[in-house]
Amino acid sequence: MTGPIGIFDSGYGGLTVFKEIQKKLPNYDFIYLGDNARVPYGIRSFQAVYEFTRECVLKLFELGCNLVIIACNTASAKALKNIQEFDLPEGKRVLGVIRPTTESIDRYTRTKKVGILATEGTVLSESYKIEIGKFFPNIEVFQHACPLWVPLVENNEIDSKGTHFIVERDIRELLALSPEIDTIVLACTHFPILLSVIQAYVPNNVTVLSQGELVSEKLVDYLHRHPEIDDVCGKNAKLSFFTTDEVFDFENKTEIFYGKKIKAQYIHL
Ligand code: DGL
Repeated sequence: MTGPIGIFDSGYGGLTVFKEIQKKLPNYDFIYLGDNARVPYGIRSFQAVYEFTRECVLKLFELGCNLVIIACNTASAKALKNIQEFDLPEGKRVLGVIRPTTESIDRYTRTKKVGILATEGTVLSESYKIEIGKFFPNIEVFQHACPLWVPLVENNEIDSKGTHFIVERDIRELLALSPEIDTIVLACTHFPILLSVIQAYVPNNVTVLSQGELVSEKLVDYLHRHPEIDDVCGKNAKLSFFTTDEVFDFENKTEIFYGKKIKAQYIHL
């Protein structure tokens, strides 16, 4: 039976990926699920992130999705492999955002020095170092954790003095790790929401990469390579949004981050 593509994030960050996916696949049906009641995931243990993510992904399968995209780096780093190995019902698929982000990273860096800005969980998992190392062993990866950025985004503190202070400091600390970094990956789906602030503190010769475009490009390619999955994706341009927390808040903030008014529903996991 056909079903929507599920997009999951711990909160609003996945919307930055969802927006780009939707641009490339405008006729597909989607369900977005934000686990706003338990955000942030970035500071939580491996076990907690695995359990929370598993619950959300299984819920999306229950709602009819045949394919789920984990549009969260922290959850991709800490839960994806286990879910793929132990929890996947017959005929269902789950994909993350780390592999599609790293697969073509060599297109962007000339110095072969790449900076990663991410949550503490993603940095500690070393997933970016490992994945980039598999494809491009000649690329050196420098990581810096930005534990305050997700709460700033979730609280809509996008352009305040405090946000500028924190973003400037974190970028300075990352670039201090190597003066040759010429590419910075925003390896947390919340971070593109801070893009204009980030750009203000990054030198002109450094490219800042958001994941939305990279991930959506690879998803289109995946669906071409897997017609059996594409065939079970509904294509009536139907959208639904679910949150594990307050619907009113979610609708208001989603409008800010997604750019459109949406109708959301509360979901009990
Ligand atoms: N947006 C998530 C990511 O890409 C993290 C947010 C969180 O800490 O929950 O890592």
